[in-house]
Amino acid sequence: MTQKTVLITGANRGLGAALAKAAHGHAFKVIGTARKSSALDASFIDQGYDLDLSKADSIASFCTKIVKAGHPIDFLINNAGFNPKDRKDDPTYFQSTFKIAYFDASNVSDSIWINALAPMTLISKLLPILADDAVVLNISSWLGSIGGKTAGGHYGYAGSKALLNMFTRAVALELADTGRTAVALNPGWMRTDMGGDNAERSPDEVAKAVVDMWTDGTLMSKNGQFLNIDGTEHPW
Ligand SMILES: NC(=O)c1ccc[n+]([C@@H]2O[C@H](COP(=O)([O-])OP(=O)(O)OC[C@H]3O[C@@H](n4cnc5c(N)ncnc54)[C@H](OP(=O)(O)O)[C@@H]3O)[C@@H](O)[C@H]2O)c1
Repeated sequence: MTQKTVLITGANRGLGAALAKAAHGHAFKVIGTARKSSALDASFIDQGYDLDLSKADSIASFCTKIVKAGHPIDFLINNAGFNPKDRKDDPTYFQSTFKIAYFDASNVSDSIWINALAPMTLISKLLPILADDAVVLNISSWLGSIGGKTAGGHYGYAGSKALLNMFTRAVALELADTGRTAVALNPGWMRTDMGGDNAERSPDEVAKAVVDMWTDGTLMSKNGQFLNIDGTEHPW
């Protein structure tokens, strides 16, 4: 049987590294990306590429390289994500994406670009090498749920994940006839740099659930859905 290939963005830390480890544990070929590929752990990543999702030229260069290399991709995981609360260099930045009184469209658009437009660009540019039965998993968040929104604000992060959810559904329906699948995932609150130490679950637990949902066919049976890690549907 041909070895399956998994491509994971942001595979240098957090959930991305855990996904890479879990995929490697199943003997899949793991292609990982990071802003600096030197940050990727070669013990569980077979091939690493530089990819900065905030830069159109970096996305274009990565896509050209990987399409030229001809790797067929069976499982594309758009994992890398940006939460404006993590921009520690500018104390006003987060507020400008969070509270309407400080709303800064340019700053809000950073989140929209990295979390929604960049993953969709990857899907588009990688179409020629997506396997016939490829699964695309966009790592979203409960914060991107419109129906589930109970607290105000959070325009940058929540808005970007809501857009990612809509894009996931749209591309899932567009590609349905091709045999490919696209799903959005709420990974829950995880103990990563983004989630912090008090979060409820480890990224390894989430990574195992993701790989299991791919290998047991759950993801393929849920085209266009927004899922939790137990395979149940999350409200849009
Ligand atoms: N942690 C949670 O509780 C939680 C909850 C819901 C959803 N999520 C989602 O889960 C995914 C993984 O998050 P995590 O918790 O693992 O976060 P994390 O530990 O903060 O890791 C974020 C990853 O995204 C990468 N990244 C950020 N901006 C990037 C850019 N411009 N170009 C390329 N890579 C970039 C980071 O790369 P660098 O190391 O170079 O910064 C890092 O690899 C994200 O999509 C996040 O939104 C997380």
